[in-house]
Amino acid sequence: MKKIAVLTSGGDAPGMNGAIRAIVRVGIKRGFEVYGVYGGFHGLVEGKIKKLGYSDVSEILAKGGTILESSRLPEFKLEEVQDKAIDNLKGYDIDSLIVIGGDGSYRGALSLSKKGINCIGIPGTIDNDINGTDETIGFHTALSNIIDAVNKLRDTSSSHHRCFVIEVMGNNADSLALYSAISCGSELVITHKTGFDEDFVIAEMIKNETVYNKRHAIIIVSEKILDVDNLAKRISEETGFSGRAIVLGHIQRGGSPVPEDRILASRMAGKAIELLINNESGKCVCLKNSEIVAMGIEEALKETNQSKELLYQLFEDLV
Ligand code: F6P
Repeated sequence: MKKIAVLTSGGDAPGMNGAIRAIVRVGIKRGFEVYGVYGGFHGLVEGKIKKLGYSDVSEILAKGGTILESSRLPEFKLEEVQDKAIDNLKGYDIDSLIVIGGDGSYRGALSLSKKGINCIGIPGTIDNDINGTDETIGFHTALSNIIDAVNKLRDTSSSHHRCFVIEVMGNNADSLALYSAISCGSELVITHKTGFDEDFVIAEMIKNETVYNKRHAIIIVSEKILDVDNLAKRISEETGFSGRAIVLGHIQRGGSPVPEDRILASRMAGKAIELLINNESGKCVCLKNSEIVAMGIEEALKETNQSKELLYQLFEDLV
C-alpha cells in the first residue's frame, strides 16, 4: 500500500486542521496509508512520525491551530538536515509528503522533491502571500478576527474622539491590512505599497475635514513598517484626536476557522491527494478564479503577482 505523510509548517493558520482531516480521510478512501509528522520540518528531522486513522482526525475541523503542531526550521536549507528527514521518511517506506504552510515551508518541500520525495504544497498562512493562489488557508479567519477587534475599538474611538493606530500581521504582504481597512471603513491604510510619511498622516488627521469631523478615526498599519506607539504619540500631541496604538498580534491567528477556510482547506486537500495519485511532485495547490488548480512550487515562490490597485482605489473612494 502506498504511504504518504502530511506536516504543517511555519506560522499556524486556522483551517490547517481541516486540511489534515481531509488528507487523512480522502487519502484512506483512495487507498493510501496516511502518516502525520508532528512539529513540522523539525519533527520530520527528529522522526516524529505516526500513522493516522480515520478517528484520529475526528472533531478537529472546528479547531484553530494545528493538531500536528508546527515549527520554523531555517536549518532545513542544509543538505545534511534534508537527508536526515529523507532517511526518516524512508524508514517508514513513505515516498510522498504533503506540506501545509507558507513560502518558507514551500522551500523545504521543493528541496525534498528535488531529492526524490513526491512533495505537494498546500498554502496555509494567514498572510495570503503565495503567488498563484487567490487565497491561502487561514486568511479569512484572521481577517474576521481583525474585523471583530476593530469593531470593538471603534466604540471607544467614537466615544472619546480617539484615533486608534492598529498594527495587523501579514509579514511583508498587504492583504490583511488592505482587506481589513476596506471591511472596517478605516480612515487610513498604511502598507508597503502605500509607503509611509509620518507628516502626511498627521496632516491628514487635521487638514482632511472629512476625517477630522468624524468622532472616530481608525488607521490600519501593516506590521514591519513603523512604530505605532510613536505615531499615536504624535497624533495626541499634534492633532485634535487622542492617539492610541494597538498591536493585534497573535490574536489574529487563533480561533475556530470560518467556513471559507474550512471549505478551502478541504477542497485543497482533496486536490493534493489527486496530484499524488497522478504521481505529481514539486507542485502546489492553488485557488484560481474559484477553481482548485495546481502549479509548480518554484513558480509559487516567485513574488506574488496579485494586483490590488483597484482595491486601493476603492479604499480611497470610500474614505
Ligand atoms: O506568517 C504568519 C505570521 O503570523 C506573520 O503574519 C507574522 O509576521 C509572523 O507569522 C509572526 O511569526 P511568529 O509567530 O513566529 O512570531
